[in-house]
Amino acid sequence: MLRLALLSILLLTLEVTGSLCAQETYFSDVPLGIDWIIVPEDNPMSAAKIELGKQLFFDTRLSGNGTVSCASCHDPNKGWADDRKFTPGAHGQLTSRNVPSIVNVGLHRTFFWDGRAPSLEVQALAPMTNPAEMDISLTELENRLRNIDGYRSQFQTVFADGVTAQNVAKSLAAFQRTIVAGETTYDRFRGGHADALEGEIGRGSGIFFGKANCGNCHIAKVYTDHKFHNIGTGLSDTQQDQGRAGHTGKPEDIGKFRTPLLRDLALTAPYFHDGSKATLEEVVDFYNEGGGKNPRLDPHIVPLNLTPEEKKALVTFLREGLRSNAYPQIEKPTLPK
Ligand code: HEC
Ligand code: HEC
Repeated sequence: MLRLALLSILLLTLEVTGSLCAQETYFSDVPLGIDWIIVPEDNPMSAAKIELGKQLFFDTRLSGNGTVSCASCHDPNKGWADDRKFTPGAHGQLTSRNVPSIVNVGLHRTFFWDGRAPSLEVQALAPMTNPAEMDISLTELENRLRNIDGYRSQFQTVFADGVTAQNVAKSLAAFQRTIVAGETTYDRFRGGHADALEGEIGRGSGIFFGKANCGNCHIAKVYTDHKFHNIGTGLSDTQQDQGRAGHTGKPEDIGKFRTPLLRDLALTAPYFHDGSKATLEEVVDFYNEGGGKNPRLDPHIVPLNLTPEEKKALVTFLREGLRSNAYPQIEKPTLPK
């Protein structure tokens, strides 16, 4: 309830505070630690559009056989992600990568682990048409939604051209931009509360930004550099994910993935694009040993020689220091008939 009230205040106070280039505006009034979320100029935010996007996000009628919604994989009760390595889609076929959380996804500049989608609007149609995920054609999607009175009227209110696949994508994107979390211990420290970082969390933050050099790629306070790196994940004799190279075709991009955000990690195990690490302790061990050896390993991934106490403090920083107090708790809405 509290969160809902908070969100409506957020929506009432939407503000356009500036523009990065001709096509971008900002969405401000977000929790401490998140400065703004970029909103493309051709898809401005409105309360009605966000509400429509929320309904679509939770609606299994967006999949061909009516069994799977966006929320089946990006489950609000599981950190807006899933707790399995790979997740079954409409026909039970498993995804080829681990489901990322969509919390703070509006902070990213490219989408998917390999960054192949340039915007949330482009990204949204991919799971619907993917046979392993929702498996519905865009024509079928449009026909289906036009036949649901409650959707047809909402689309007519929000968009001049009513129900179209593009407008489904725009609504989903607008809703997802409101899924923001922040106000972590570390955000409070950066916000001027010097005493927020005490004990093990404080020691852990020193290691994160110091000896372990994690902040080189997970740049505070977004925790990503918006770039792609080969840290040696998912490389084995039997399975190799080409990562960024699968999109660019460049050999130097083999095994590179986009640096992910790090808030609220405790809710989103397992970790990495292949869900190969079950716990944060395993992630820290992986980095401590110098990542996954391969010819294209990023030069910043080196053995860290952390002591057991340092590893423990680093995990505490990741788990507690980056845990949001303002976390998006949203119930499944009533769906239109
Ligand atoms: C069957 C599970 C499944 C369903 C259903 C699903 N997703 Fe995803 N989603 C994934 C996986 C897996 C990825 C990562 C794929 C990759 O990177 O190649 C992903 C990635 C994303 C991303 C990119 C996040 C990032 O960090 O770049 C967004 C945004 C997203 N999904 C939104 C949606 C929306 C909106 C829907 C509904 C229209 C949806 N997803 C339906 C599994 C699913
Ligand atoms: C060279 C850049 C780089 C450095 C340095 C780096 N990371 Fe990462 N980190 C990445 C990339 C890229 C991924 C995604 C890899 C993948 O999914 O296969 C990642 C993934 C992660 C994840 C998994 C997040 C998730 O949602 O699955 C965690 C946790 C993490 N890093 C913590 C750390 C810590 C702790 C350190 C310091 C010991 C560190 N990183 C240093 C680039 C880096």
